[in-house]
Amino acid sequence: AAALRGSFIRKAQLSNKSSHCLQVQASYKVAVLGAAGGIGQPLALLVKMSPLVSALHLYDIANVKGVAADLSHCNTPSQVLDFTGASELANCLNGVNVVVIPAGVPRKPGMTRDDLFNINANIVKTLVGAVADNCPDAFIHIISNPVNSTVPIAAEVLKQKGVYDPKKLFGVTTLDVVRANTFVAQEKNLKLIDVDVPVVGGHAGVTILPLLSKTKPSVSFTDEEVKNLTVRIQSAGTEVVEAKAGAGSATLSMAYAAARFVESSLRALDGDDDVYECSYVQSDLTDLPFFASRVKLGRKGIETLIPSDLQGLTEYEQKALEALKPELKASIEKGINFVQKQS
Ligand code: NAI
Repeated sequence: AAALRGSFIRKAQLSNKSSHCLQVQASYKVAVLGAAGGIGQPLALLVKMSPLVSALHLYDIANVKGVAADLSHCNTPSQVLDFTGASELANCLNGVNVVVIPAGVPRKPGMTRDDLFNINANIVKTLVGAVADNCPDAFIHIISNPVNSTVPIAAEVLKQKGVYDPKKLFGVTTLDVVRANTFVAQEKNLKLIDVDVPVVGGHAGVTILPLLSKTKPSVSFTDEEVKNLTVRIQSAGTEVVEAKAGAGSATLSMAYAAARFVESSLRALDGDDDVYECSYVQSDLTDLPFFASRVKLGRKGIETLIPSDLQGLTEYEQKALEALKPELKASIEKGINFVQKQS
């Protein structure tokens, strides 16, 4: 339950006291692909702070040497190695337990996540192909947008390579949960550390569906509060894109959210039996093949999808769930078709 409510930082603080973490040994290898970027750099810093990481492999097509040299001076356990360009990708991925992919271009004002499709689809396809060849057992965290399509692309690539394990492929939607928790705590004057809002569906516009009725601790909202909070959570990414005015999209909050998801995955790999996160994954909870929901993580990836959040929805949530399905379905099909038409 603490994992459900707690933030990455709080977990790190708690970890000094918990019996599980007293046994922590730095023994996992994490690779970040796109490590010199706006997300990649702060993400690498946060992962460098993890006591569970023994090696941090940083890959990019440029500028990664300096990032690695800089980070390597932090006196935390992990060894930092840099890898530049396609010829070094296989070495980067060798023996890695968790691969995080924030490679690609971010949005500019006026762009939707889908506008990034043409560039990022190819990048994700290539990188996941290399993951399939070099570390097919790794957990794969996809950050590159449009996540609603890039995760189905990754699944198709892994299938073609004969190594697809749906329990280990994740679209990172943690930022939607992080935002929902923050905005709800502010609106209802709650202690932030206690707040947990499940966010389901996908990771773009109306496909992002915060289930405010399932907020923990239990709290009531007026219809207007539900509408305003839902819209703010759905458009929070655009809020940042506009504030940055052409300089990119969310990077720092995204790095924080991605680091939380990495830490959760490492704790699950390490045998912690109480690890839950929301993620966009292959799913049978709805009639869509991919869907974000809460999942329980274990040593082998997803142990179970958590269906209970989708039961007993309010009328507003039920309608929003039905309304998001056509867009999400189209994004999934776009991703699948992208890979299938090239083969
Ligand atoms: P950025 O442009 O600052 O960094 C991207 C990095 O990827 C650059 O260092 C670039 O050299 C690298 N790159 C490009 N092609 C590559 C390739 N073939 N192999 C390896 N690296 C490559 O962009 P930023 O802000 O870090 O965003 C990255 C992605 O994350 C974007 O697609 C953005 O839309 C997405 N994003 C996802 C979020 C989510 O919640 N899942 C939230 C925010 C952004």
